Formats: sequence, C-alpha cells, structure tokens
Amino acid sequence: MKAGFVQFEPLFGEVNKNIERAEMLIDGTDADLLVLPELFNTGYVFTAKGEVVDLSEEVPKGKTTQALCRMAKNNDVYIVAGIAEKSGDKYFNSAVIVSPQGYLGTYRKIHLFFEEKLWFNPGDGNFEVYDIGPYKFGVMICFDWIFPESMRVLSLKGAYVICHSANLVLPFCQDAMKTRCLENRVFAITANRTGTEARKGKSLTFTGKSQITGHTAEVLYQAAPDTDEVGIVDIDMTRAENKRLNEYNDIFEDRRTEFYKRLLQDLAE
Ligand code: ACM
Repeated sequence: MKAGFVQFEPLFGEVNKNIERAEMLIDGTDADLLVLPELFNTGYVFTAKGEVVDLSEEVPKGKTTQALCRMAKNNDVYIVAGIAEKSGDKYFNSAVIVSPQGYLGTYRKIHLFFEEKLWFNPGDGNFEVYDIGPYKFGVMICFDWIFPESMRVLSLKGAYVICHSANLVLPFCQDAMKTRCLENRVFAITANRTGTEARKGKSLTFTGKSQITGHTAEVLYQAAPDTDEVGIVDIDMTRAENKRLNEYNDIFEDRRTEFYKRLLQDLAE
C-alpha cells in the first residue's frame, strides 16, 4: 500500500489558499492513503475565540471537507486531514477521514496541547479505525503521541498504520514514534507542518520532518524541516499483522492486563 504525508506551511486564516495549496500538492500523486497536517486549513496560532468561531466548519458539509472529498475522488486516495470543526456551540481540533467514495468519519483530538485548551473542546469520541481494502488504519492528532495509550488502543483495535496529523513544536515526537511503532508493531505516518506563525505577540515554529515510521522502529522516510513535500512509501501492511517477536514472545498476547488496572484509574483514586 502506498501511504504518505503532505507537508507544507498553512497560512493563518487563509482557508481557501490552504485548500488550494494542499490540492496542488496532492493532484497527480500516486498514493492509496495520504495524511495532511493538523489544522491544515486554518493555521494554528489562534489569539481569540472569535477566530475559532469564524474559521471552524461543520463536517461534512463545510467547504474543506467537500474539497477533501473532491481531492480523494480525483486522485483515488484516502485522505486524513486536520481541520477546525464546529458542531453546535462546540469547537473541536479534528481530523476528517475521506475516501474516493466520500466522507468516512471524524476524529476529535482527545489530548489538547497548550493553548488549544482555550480554543477547543476536548474530543468526545473514541480512537477509531477505518477500513482500507483488507486493512485498517487508525487516526490520532499531534500531542496524542505523548500518551502511549493512544496508539495502543488504535493498534489493539486492529490498525496496521496510524495516520498522525501534526503541528509539532517540540523536538521529541519523530524519535518517539520509533518506539510507538515498535511497541505496537505498526506503521505510522506523521504529517507535520513547517514555518513560523507569529500573531499578536505569540510565535510558534513548527519542526517539519514529517516521518513515515516502520513496525520495527525504522524511519522509512523523513522530510526536510522546512520544505513543502509529499513523501510516499510503499508499505507492506502484512508486516504489521504479526505481533510475534520470537518463538516465545507475542507483544499483544504477552500483555499482563491484570497488572495494568492502575492505568484506568484517575489520579485521585
Ligand atoms: C500539538 O499537539 N499541536 C503539539
């Protein structure tokens, strides 16, 4: 399966231009599955709730989801892309999932990072997996990576590849994804953005280096830190089927869940 990322620099508030740029990069590519960065249509550095209200869109009827459906159909590709979602009076940092046949679903970011907590409601859905041919892929967004539970749940639900839309500002994730992939024996596509967003005294620089990581911790492809780039790798999904390390160890079957109950308790309990 050919899977990859679209790395570029979204411009804050320029939804039409960002959609156009993504479409220009996607058109003519040869992939089965492509991942776009977190909040690819709006940019990241919000400075007031009104900006979130103005730029968020309903899913699937909003223009960004409709444009993604068009790109998926025209290029015969599944797409996972981060957008700002409006649902009633709630706002989510979401990823929409579309196929060549149309809209498939939405993931609402569960672990909000930094000032996202000022702008967005925490995700109220679960970590979900989606069918692509005989395989499944899972979806998570950026800071979800620091919670190993995110990829564990997706992997236990049968995902062989994790689609990871990101706007990374810390330098740790690309290395950490090697361990995340190894401990679940899955592939991951981290689609990061580039550039610096400076708005009203706030400034963040995004680290690029979008990465496709293999099930035995190998970096299959990494983009440059600062260029627009579509990176696609031919992944042998069957390799993620086998969770066996050797004749004695299967990393899923060997879990001792009776010793993990603390994981499901609140700190106060
Ligand atoms: C992040 O979650 N955007 C770091």
